[in-house]
Amino acid sequence: MATIVSIASGKGGVGKSVVASNLALLLAKTGKRVIVVDLDTGGANLHVLFGLFHPPSTLTDFLNNRIKDLAEIAYPVQGCSPLRLIPGTGETLLTANLPHSKKKRLIRCLQRLDAELILVDVGAGTHYHALDFFLLADRYIGVATPDPTSVVDLYRFIKLAAIRKVLTAFLARDPVAEHLLNQDFHSITEVIEAAGKTHESSAEIARSVLHDFRPMLVLNRMTNGSRINTLHLQNLLKQYVGTDLELLGKIPEDQSVQLSVLNYLPVVEFAPSSPAATAFRVIAERLTAKL
Ligand SMILES: Nc1ncnc2c1ncn2[C@@H]1O[C@H](COP(=O)(O)OP(=O)(O)OP(=O)(O)O)[C@@H](O)[C@H]1O
Ligand SMILES: [Mg+2]
Repeated sequence: MATIVSIASGKGGVGKSVVASNLALLLAKTGKRVIVVDLDTGGANLHVLFGLFHPPSTLTDFLNNRIKDLAEIAYPVQGCSPLRLIPGTGETLLTANLPHSKKKRLIRCLQRLDAELILVDVGAGTHYHALDFFLLADRYIGVATPDPTSVVDLYRFIKLAAIRKVLTAFLARDPVAEHLLNQDFHSITEVIEAAGKTHESSAEIARSVLHDFRPMLVLNRMTNGSRINTLHLQNLLKQYVGTDLELLGKIPEDQSVQLSVLNYLPVVEFAPSSPAATAFRVIAERLTAKL
């Protein structure tokens, strides 16, 4: 079974796809059978970052049952075997607003893909699809820039993902789930307390579900003047979500990244000696150690 790593941010445009494409390429270069999947429904563009402009089929074909096996749309990335890419979806109303049953099938098939490592590029926002695609993984990466709005969005995303993770641990018709689904929570402690009020053992179940939820942080577009308070973000998450957020690495603001996007190549390939590429190699090594 593949290890799945999801990459999300809450806020759009902070570098999720750039991070996903570069890490996928670096990890594939170590010989791992890697598949990078575009799960940004509605904003799928990962294929463009690899210069694959017109994929013969995409997740749209899979979701509309024209393709039965997800592996059929895992296209080899030119010049970078053993990396494969599953192009995203969202150009129809139905696929941009996936029904629950289709999402379930997609997640099930993704988790069964034959690969060593699967990287998932999750779209922006905190809707159920983004949260569920983030949570389908074994390891979680949150991306933020020094922009305070990005930090707030990432905090909110991780908090809501944690709450969603707890809620889905209870069956839909379970009285605990019914009770919890109709409430608004501000922190995980509130969720655990509410679960405990419904049934004695429920608080313990909620706590154990969160035990392995340890997202990692990638800070992107850092400059010398960036004054991002990583410690503050870590403290907030510890206090309100009960989750440790480990800093996986920092990527500098680097024009080579923009140029690499314009040239349809990940920066680690386009400008291997650039500061951003160097930072990506450090992050890939740290991530490998966590797999
Ligand atoms: N480290 C960096 N230095 C300079 N520019 C960067 C850096 N990282 C990302 N960018 C720029 O930001 C743009 C957006 O990045 P990217 O598409 O990865 O964001 P995203 O979070 O996936 O966006 P979306 O939410 O729309 O999917 C890139 O096209 C690139 O121009
Ligand atoms: Mg993206």
